[in-house]
Formats: sequence, structure tokens, C-alpha cells
Amino acid sequence: MDRLHITGGTPLHGRIPVSGAKNSALKLMVACLLTDQPVELTNMPNLADTRFLAQLLETLGVEVYWPKGSSTCHLNAAELKSTIAPYEQVRKMRASFNVLGPLVARSGHATVSLPGGCAIGARPVDLHLQALEAMGADLRVEQGYVKAAAIHGLKGAHINFSTVSVGATEHAMLAATLAKGETILENAAREPEIEDLAQCLNSMGAQVTGAGTPVIRIKGAEALKGTVYPVMPDRIEAGTFAMAAAAAGGDVTLDGAPVAALGALISKLREAGVTVDGDEAASTLRIRRNGSALKAVSLSTQPHPGFPTDLQAQFMALVSLAEGTSIIRETIFENRFMHAPELSRLGADITVRGQEAVVKGVKQLTGAPVMATDLRASVSLVIAGLAAEGETVVNRIYHLDRGFERLEEKLGACGAKIVRRSGEEE
Ligand code: EPZ
Repeated sequence: MDRLHITGGTPLHGRIPVSGAKNSALKLMVACLLTDQPVELTNMPNLADTRFLAQLLETLGVEVYWPKGSSTCHLNAAELKSTIAPYEQVRKMRASFNVLGPLVARSGHATVSLPGGCAIGARPVDLHLQALEAMGADLRVEQGYVKAAAIHGLKGAHINFSTVSVGATEHAMLAATLAKGETILENAAREPEIEDLAQCLNSMGAQVTGAGTPVIRIKGAEALKGTVYPVMPDRIEAGTFAMAAAAAGGDVTLDGAPVAALGALISKLREAGVTVDGDEAASTLRIRRNGSALKAVSLSTQPHPGFPTDLQAQFMALVSLAEGTSIIRETIFENRFMHAPELSRLGADITVRGQEAVVKGVKQLTGAPVMATDLRASVSLVIAGLAAEGETVVNRIYHLDRGFERLEEKLGACGAKIVRRSGEEE
């Protein structure tokens, strides 16, 4: 089992390239199921999660050509040989569940395992199922599997989501592209990844309008065609490096950063006393902090364009070193403070009260062995480790490998003392 050894206290200086967005790539990959023509995705992040989804697509019959280390992935779903997504695969990676709608839209039926809960919360899929049912799919849940059928095809529907859900919005969009007639999604999620998916689908001949607003309209088509499409840059990876630089201090420029998608984080970083210069035209984000103290900042996670839940853990690591008390509210997932006790092991002063964490800033963190239960929690420990005095060992970094490409190499290039080692946990 790999772990990261981080010797903190060194400011970061240099440039970091931003990779393609994991959470967009996963949905763009699924879109290949909607056409019998080749789909080529460029700027693909090489991650455990994207590789894992490629394997699931292969079991469905998709031809995948994605050489090791390459950022171009070729997917060809000319013929599907299975419409079953098994428990072992969906349980490990929830985004696999999104193959259900496209398989039904393309083949008229599918059997996909329910994903179950996960480390950050119960995460039901009721909204996904309601949307597919509204589009005429006949759904049954048997032995942990959703069996869906729409023998005569899906039909357009008017769907008003009771909660804003990224996954359900994307799932409904994917399925609706091959439905008969128009689908209208209200109270849709507005995340940049949804706009990316809409653009990719439109490049395949779909007619999706309104992505990025709460109302999305999709006019169904008889068939979609192949495409070559670049995955958008990863706003969560970019935001994470921004906070690493803010916590450790120094001067770091992120290249290929999705500046417009990071508005909520940029304003909170400035409130914390960090100097942030974003250049949308050049896609660069420069983060500087040279010795000045961090100020406490409170926030509440919200659907986009609010502060993203996927950056909450990293921000908590940052303000654990600020002057004063910050209140962090998590409103998207019910169990997303698992990093708080681990940050406390490094000397942070954090009290969790239900959906709120009260973070009293401390002058110094000190290195310790830590571990985390999910991807963003793990990287918050890396950030804290970079700012701490002494050595921090982050165990169980397979979580990190799910969502961060070449993390130690990118940080190391800016002077971070961070090495990966294998063997027993510490
Ligand atoms: C996506 O998850 C992301 N995952 C998550 O990133 C991210 O945290 C989340 O959106 C919110 O931005 C991917 O894109 C692969 P939701 P998703 O549906 O789509 C509830 C990471 O670290 N809900 O927007 O699953 C749900 O329980 C991951 O990269 C229902 O009640 O999130 C949650 O409370 C973690 N019923 C809220 O809605 C449903 O049918 C928002 O979830 C669906 C969701």
C-alpha cells in the first residue's frame, strides 16, 4: 500500500499544469454509449477512476484504445455486447451508474446495480430513477439491481428536480438526447461539467440548450454521431493547488486553469488574505502569499456557482492556520467532515457540530501519520502536511490516485518535499 511522506514548511514556487476534469471525463466517456461511431476524448486525466470506467465500458462491448500515460482516449461503441453493469463495478465507482440511461436509450433495456452509500453520505439515486421513469422507462428494483426497459424507446418529458443534483441532471441529459421529442429539465444543476457535457453532446449532433442555467432543454435525435472532444480542465484540482500554495506560502501559477469556474473559491481566498490573479484569456491563475497571516473565513458549501463541496476539506485545512475562528457548513453531503479528526492529529483545533465545523485557527501544525476515507479529505491532509512543521505521512493514498494525476510530481516541481513510498502503513 502506497503512502506519501511530506516534509512541510517549504513555500511553493513555480508553475503547475492543470489536468482534464475527472468529474467531466467520467460523463463524457459514458456519452460514447449513445452512438455507434467513434468518440475521441482528448485532455483525458489518467486516473484510477477514469481507467476503471474504461474497463466497465469494455465489459459492455465498447472498444477502448487508451495507451498507458496517453491523454487521448478512443472509444467505439459500434456494437454493445452486454447491457449489464455489475455490483462490483458500480459499487467501487458511483459514476458507473450513469450508464443506465444511455444503455436504455440505445438498446431499449439495461440492468445496472444500485451503487449503495459511500464514505461521504447515503447518496441515493432516486432522482436519476424518477427522471428515467418520466421518460417512459419501466423500472424494477430486484436484488440490488435496477432493471430498466423502454422497448419502444424513451420519450421526452418535463422533469422538475426536487433537489439540485449533478449526477441526475447529467444522467437525464444523456438519456434525453435519444428520446422522442423534447425534454425540459428544471432546477437542473449548473456545474461547469454540465456545460462541458452539453457541448460534447452537441458536437455529437444532439440539441441541448440552457446548460449552465437551471432550465435545460434537450431535443431528442434519431441517432448521434462520433466526435473528437477535449475534456475541460479540472476546477477541483486547480482549486486544490491554489489552496496548497496559499497554505504553504509562495508564488504559484496554474496553467490551463478554468478561472471563470473558480469564482467562489477565488473570492474566499482573497477574503483570507491570499493574493489571487486570474487571467481568463490566458487560462492562468496566480496565487501568492509571502509571510502575511491568513484571516479566518466562514463559508457554506452550495451547488454551483456557490462554494463547491469538493473543495471544502481543502479550505478547512487552509483556515486551520488562520487568525480567528472560521465556521464551515457542509450542506451537500451529510458525512463530509471525516478529515476534521485527522487534521486535529496535526494540531488543528476543529469541533464538528452536525453540519457545521468550528475551526479555531492555530499558529502552527505539526507533522503526524494520518489517513483519510475519501479523495478530497486525503488531499486536505496533503495541504496541511505541506504547511506543517516536520514530517506528515498520508496513508491509503489510493484515494488520491482516484482523482489526482501525478500529484507528488506536480507539487514536487514547485519545491514541495513529497515522496511516495510503498509498504506497511505508518
Ligand atoms: C457529483 O456527485 C460529483 N461526482 C461529486 O464529486 C460532487 O461532490 C457532487 O457532484 C456535488 O458537486 C461526480 O461528478 C462523479 P449530486 P453526484 O447528485 O452527482 C443528493 C468527488 O470527490 N441526491 O449533485 O453524486 C445527494 O445525496 C465527488 O469528486 C439525492 O438525494 O452528486 C447529495 O446530498 C464526490 N438523490 C445531493 O443530492 C439523487 O438521486 C447532491 O448530489 C441524487 C442526489
